[in-house]
Order: sequence, then C-alpha cells, then structure tokens
Amino acid sequence: MTTPLLRALAAGRGLTIGAAVDAAALRDDARYRALLAREFNGVTPENALKFAPLRPRRDRFDFAEAEAIVAFAAAHGMRVRGHALAWHRALPDWLTAGGFGREELTAILREHIATVVGHFRGRVTAWDVVNEGLPVAHDPARAASVWLRGIGPAYLDLAFRWAHAADPGARLFYNDDGAEGGGAKAAAIDALVRGLLARGVPLHGVGLQGHVGLATAPDPGALAATLRGFAALGLATELTEVDVRLQGGNGTPEERLTAQAGVYRDLGLAACAAPRRAGLTVWGVTDRHSWIPGHTGRPDAPLLFDAGYAPKPAYAALREALRG
Ligand code: G3I
Repeated sequence: MTTPLLRALAAGRGLTIGAAVDAAALRDDARYRALLAREFNGVTPENALKFAPLRPRRDRFDFAEAEAIVAFAAAHGMRVRGHALAWHRALPDWLTAGGFGREELTAILREHIATVVGHFRGRVTAWDVVNEGLPVAHDPARAASVWLRGIGPAYLDLAFRWAHAADPGARLFYNDDGAEGGGAKAAAIDALVRGLLARGVPLHGVGLQGHVGLATAPDPGALAATLRGFAALGLATELTEVDVRLQGGNGTPEERLTAQAGVYRDLGLAACAAPRRAGLTVWGVTDRHSWIPGHTGRPDAPLLFDAGYAPKPAYAALREALRG
C-alpha cells in the first residue's frame, strides 16, 4: 500500500494541511502545481489577497491572481484561507501617502472588506481579518499602522463586523506571531480577543503564525497550553504560517534537518491535539519559494520540500504526526 499523502492523513483527522501559494509559481510551474495539489488540502494566497495587490488604485480592484489561486483550490478540493484584510503592511502608496482622515479611512477599509469578502463569498471559507494588530517593540511599523493611527483601535471591531456582514458563513480569525509558546504576546492576544468577544464582535478563531526556528521553536507543552487557552474561549485555533528556520541552529546540515523534522512533528501533533483544531498551513510549498532567505539575506531551508521539490525529513515527520 502506498503511504498516504499529507492531505489524506489530514482529512482523516478533520484537519486542513495548507500551503501559502505564490501566484507566479502557480501560473508558471507545473511541478509546483502538481506537488501542491497532491499533498495539500488547503491554500492561503501568500500575497494575492493583500491590500496592495488587490487595490493598485483606489478605484480599481484586481482579482486576477487571487481568482487563479481560488480556482485551483476549487478544482482540487482545497480550502482557502483569505489573508489579510486589515494589516499594516502591503499597502499601496495611494493609501499610505493619501493623507486621509478618520472618516475617509473608515470608508476605504469598509469598502475594501465589503468588496473583497463579498467577491469571494462562499469560496474563501476563512479570513485573517486583522493580522499583527498588536504593537510590538521589534516592529514599530505595527503601532504606526494606518488603520490604528488613522481610525483608532475601533478598526478591529469594525473590520470583523464588516467581514461578517459580507459573508456570514466565513470563519473570521485574528492572526498574529510570537505567541506560540505562550508568554506576554499570548496574554496580549488573549486580552484582545476577550475584548472583541465581550463586545459581541463576530470572531471565530485565532491564527498563530508559527514562524519559528531551531533556536526558537515553542515548547510543545507551552504550545498545547496556548491552543487550549484560546479554545476555552470558544475559538478555533490554527497554525497559519509555519516555517522552521535552520539558520541559528547547531550541528551539521543533516543534524539540523533532523532537528527541523522534530519541530514539524511537534507542531503537527499540537495541531492534531488542539481542542478546536482547524489546521496547519506551511508558509510556502518548497524551500525555493520561502520568503525567509530574502528577508534574512541568508540561505535557509525552512519548509517541507527542498528546492528540488523532494520531501525532506520534516515532511516525513509531519506525516507521522498526522498518522498518530
Ligand atoms: O509582486 C511584486 C513584483 O511585481 C515586484 O517586481 C517585486 C519587487 O518590488 O515585488 C513583488 O511583490 C513582493 C511580494 O512579496 C511578492 O513577491 C513584495 O515586494 C514583497 O514585500 C512581498 O513580501 C511578502 C511579505 O509578506 C509582505 O507582504 C512575502 O512574500 C510574504 O511571505 C510575507 O508574508 C508575511 C505574512 O503575509 C504575514 N506574516 C508574516 C509573513 C512574513 O513576513
């Protein structure tokens, strides 16, 4: 019997195993398309559903790249996570340099969310409505968010309410990083989502991005406790942008790949054990398509498949975690 693929094992557990999809690779690379369709039952457009790609001008929406990804997902029985409606990054110059006041920014964000979520109603089943909405010391751009500075903290409530109005069937997530192992960030997200829920905001889940490294992988017990904490609020939990950097790790390349496999195993087990689990998405299909080398300026191999599209020890480890 052939070993079942990731998506078959995930489906058997009621889980989605997704991948962030690069629109150009999907368009141009047959091997990419084949690997994506074979192994994953979910997709997140890596960039095509962000504000700037969708809105080159205030009076124009460009859905072409997102439509291609959504169509591919539909053709291959894959769930689509929309990412991200309100974020401080990937914003077009006409917006950030527009000098808009509170009322106009509110109207712009409302129009954006209503149009985009409405356009994909029933086809994008989950949305990262707000991404990285909490100020953090290491990224001052978050506190300088045009939405937070221009509209005020109320933009979070409004964004969720507008998304729900545009597609009542979509599951709406708050998505953020740095909280996988608990601690101050997890506590800050907990306080934020409790406030949203207390005000009757339609919030259905928390996305923990899962951008980790060999040196920063969360303690499995702490991750399990973090997921349980949000589930206790009635929220679904997902690992939404998983990659495991090798840089910063010790040992030979083989030893680091083995250590990376251990982290993927732990993350997979956590996703399977999460009380209100929904899924785990890796942030790219192969190492060739990862954002990390460009971000850090150093080579890395953070994903499940190598630059030659071959499965790595991390793939086998995640598959074993899903087999239980
Ligand atoms: O498509 C344009 C291309 O036309 C242009 O020639 C080129 C050079 O300017 O830029 C291309 O757009 C780039 C895009 O990726 C597609 O490659 C943007 O400049 C670049 O900023 C963008 O980076 C993405 C980044 O988010 C910012 O949006 C990364 O691919 C993506 O992996 C990264 O993902 C984020 C999540 O959305 C949120 N969580 C953190 C995560 C990592 O930063």
